Formats: sequence, structure tokens, C-alpha cells
Amino acid sequence: MSKKPLNIVILAAGKGTRMYSNKPKVLHEIGGKPILAHVIDCARTLNPQKMIVVYGYGGEIVREAFAHETITWVNQAEQLGTGHAVQQAAPYLDDDAKTLIMLGDVPLVDKEACVSLIASAANKLAILSFNKADPTGYGRIVRNNDLVTAIVEHKDATEAQHKITEVNTGIMAMPNVYLKNWLSRISNNNAQGEYYLTDIVEFAVLDKVDVIAEITQDEWSVTGINSKVDLSQIERIYQSRVAQKLLQMGVALKDPDRLDVRGILSCGRDVEIDVNCVFEGNVSLGDNVKIAANCIIKNATIAANTQIAPFTHIDDAVVGENSRIGPYARLRPGTLLESDTHIGNFVELKNVQVDIGSKINHLSYVGDSTVGKNVNIGAGTITCNYDGANKFRTVIEDGAFIGSDSQLIAPVTIGKNATIAAGSTITKDAPADALTFCRSKEQKTIVGWKRPQKIKKV
Ligand code: UD1
Ligand code: MG
Repeated sequence: MSKKPLNIVILAAGKGTRMYSNKPKVLHEIGGKPILAHVIDCARTLNPQKMIVVYGYGGEIVREAFAHETITWVNQAEQLGTGHAVQQAAPYLDDDAKTLIMLGDVPLVDKEACVSLIASAANKLAILSFNKADPTGYGRIVRNNDLVTAIVEHKDATEAQHKITEVNTGIMAMPNVYLKNWLSRISNNNAQGEYYLTDIVEFAVLDKVDVIAEITQDEWSVTGINSKVDLSQIERIYQSRVAQKLLQMGVALKDPDRLDVRGILSCGRDVEIDVNCVFEGNVSLGDNVKIAANCIIKNATIAANTQIAPFTHIDDAVVGENSRIGPYARLRPGTLLESDTHIGNFVELKNVQVDIGSKINHLSYVGDSTVGKNVNIGAGTITCNYDGANKFRTVIEDGAFIGSDSQLIAPVTIGKNATIAAGSTITKDAPADALTFCRSKEQKTIVGWKRPQKIKKV
């Protein structure tokens, strides 16, 4: 059996008036990814020979958002209806192919349903339909047993047709030889003065081409986004599906309703995630990683057996095995922690490499630095990396001990096994294996000193 190649046309020219936004509708995000990107990604899995996106409102911004994709962009300058939209794509359709029409604002589109439509479309017009309790506004599927005889838009429907609950999703597939012919016959002679794509059903029937509707039970997979209400509902459905998948793969989620994945989260075995965590971009968690409540983790790799305590914020960082991070730690871009590191509360790290077994447990800022193995950085240590114009590096070699409340003024190197006394401001390199301190010279005591008293206001 010869298989026809596939063209996919994604309709995305709608303005999205009800979003009340300056941003084109299809660029609003579900799970941290533009609505249209969900559709394009699904389309990609169907291996089309050609993918055509009909865009209009927001034109260049939409195209720019997908500059990395191989897409044939077709501009529909005026939105005169779904039929008009597909007409704009017609010159790009391959004669020997079939076309799947998808909607750019339906992010949870189901791949399996599309596969089935494409298979059915070998010599038919195959439409995806669903049963809607309140079908108001939708095109009604008029059937004669297994075959569809018409799709009637709500505004054009008779009272009897209004009672039909099976409706058109807008997703359909057909051979291009038919589609091109039918498109050329569409007019705007209807209640809305629009060029309806759904009129092609009438032409198929006239041409004695079978029209079938495949009914999907998954309403969310065909629900389009028209408002922020829709956006928030679909977001929750999307998130709950992601959470269910993670649970099924063995990730222990304390509460699947309190997890947000805005990107891709991959997990090893026996990973535990407490409530209210947000994962963004690409995050990978190794075996036995435990993420406590209220953490935000973006573009990060966290290796096996590491524990992230509550309220930790990680952005573009790598954390090695058996480490303990947080609570209230902030790992900023360029942080690379080797195994067995401890980063504690109110510690901010940026562009820093920390080697095996080192600890920065309290209230510190370490940036633009290289920290060796088994280093202990005391509470309140600051690497002063910035002179107001330029940044400089701090190097702390293996086994060094930095006393609390020290400032290391970069560029500076603390030698191997060096000790910096608490409260030091270090401006020159500190030699290995020695104690270095830099404090005010004397410690005074004034015996009998009285604390000031509060002056009573008259
Ligand atoms: C359309 C169908 C209706 C179906 C419903 C499902 C037609 C005539 N009607 O209704 O049978 O039940 O979808 O939601 O097809 N678009 C363009 N250019 C246009 C018009 C629309 O690109 O000129 C795009 C929109 O961005 C959207 C999609 O096509 O992604 C559907 O448009 P919409 O206006 O929502 O379709 P309806 O007329 O409501
Ligand atoms: Mg509409």
C-alpha cells in the first residue's frame, strides 16, 4: 500500500480579542511553552512532509518565536474565516499528499486522534468531533448513520439542528486533490458572512466522497483557548496530566495538585517532591533526590541522593551527589557544585565552582569564585567580586577555612589549608597552611560603661 505524504496546516491567525492582551493569543503559555508550540510539537511527531502555519494577528512576533522551526508561514492579512485561512495555504499543498488541519489554539491536541484521522483520510474527509453538553457556538455534525452529511454552524442552524450535541472540533484530514477543489468552491454566503471551512462537507457529499466523524471522549484535547479563564483551566489540566505521568513513573509527589512543571522534568528512581514546587526549563533529578516544599528549580541537574530543603531557588546550576542545599539557598547561573557539598540558609552563589565536600552553610555571598575540596566557608562571608566596574575571581584552595564575617576582596587567592580569622577583610593572597587575619589592632574594654537611656519626650 502506498502511503501518501502528509501536509499539516495549523490555523493560527485569530486575534484572540477575549484575551485582552497585547500578546498574540497563540504565544500565551501552557506549561511554560507557547500554546502554538504545543500544537507544532504534536504536529512534528506526525512526521509531516510540510508544515504550514497560517498566521495573521501579531504576525512577525509569532514567526520570530518559532524562528528555529522549519515552517512554511502563510500570512492571512484579513481573517475572513476558517475556509479563507486554509485557502491561503492552498498554493503550498502538495497534490500527492493529504492534509491534516489543526488549530493553533488547542494545546492539548491528542496525537493518537490525529493519527487515526490521517489513516482514515486516505480517500475520505475525516473530521474529529466530540459531544458537548452545551454545544452553543459550535458547528453541529449532521449525520446519516455512519456518514456525515453536513456541518452546520450554530448561527446558521435550524432549531432542530441546535439540539445536536455532536460538534466539530475543527480538526480534520483529507486528500489534497479533493481539498484544493473544495476550497475553490467556498463562498461567504452565510449568517456570518465568513468563508467557512466546514462547507467542504457539502462539496464532498456532492462529489460522493465519504465524510466520517471520529468522536473523541477527551474534551480537553479539543478545547481551544479564547480567554484567560480558558488558559488557566487548560493549565491546570496540563499540570495534572504531567503530575499523573510522574506518579505513574514512580515519582512521589506529596500533592499532584500542587506541582507546576513549566518545561521538562526528568526524574530517577525514588524521587520525592513536596508541595508547591515549580520546575522550569530542563530539570533533571537523580535517584533518591528529595525536593522539599516551596522550591523553584530552573534549568538544573541535581545528582543522586541530594536533598533540597524548603524555599530554595536554583537557576541554571548543577548540583552533585549527596549534597544538601537550603533551606533558603539561592543558586544562580553558573553554579557548579561537586558531590557532598552543603549550602545552607541565605547563601547566594553565582558563577562558582565548589569542589567535593565543601560547606557554605550560612548567610554568605560567593560569586565568580573557585572553591576547592573540603573548604569551610563561615557565616557571613562575602567574596567582593565587583569594584563597581569590573568583576574579579576569588580562588579558595583545598582545605581552607574562612572564619565568619570575612570579606575576600577579589582578585585574591586563599592558599591550601589556609585559615582566615573571623572578621577579616582580605585584600592580598593568603598563604597556604597559615593563619591570616586582618582586623583592627586592639580590643578595648571600658569598665563601668552605661548603656544610653531613652530620653523621655515632654
Ligand atoms: C470553528 C468551526 C466550528 C467548530 C469550531 C470549533 C468553521 C466555520 N467553524 O468555529 O464548526 O465547531 O471552530 O472550535 O470552521 N482562524 C484563522 N483565520 C480565520 C478564522 C479563524 O486562522 O479567518 C483560526 C483561529 O485562529 C482558530 C481557528 O481558526 O484557531 C478556529 O477559529 P474560530 O473563529 O474559533 O472558529 P469558529 O468560527 O468559532
Ligand atoms: Mg469563533
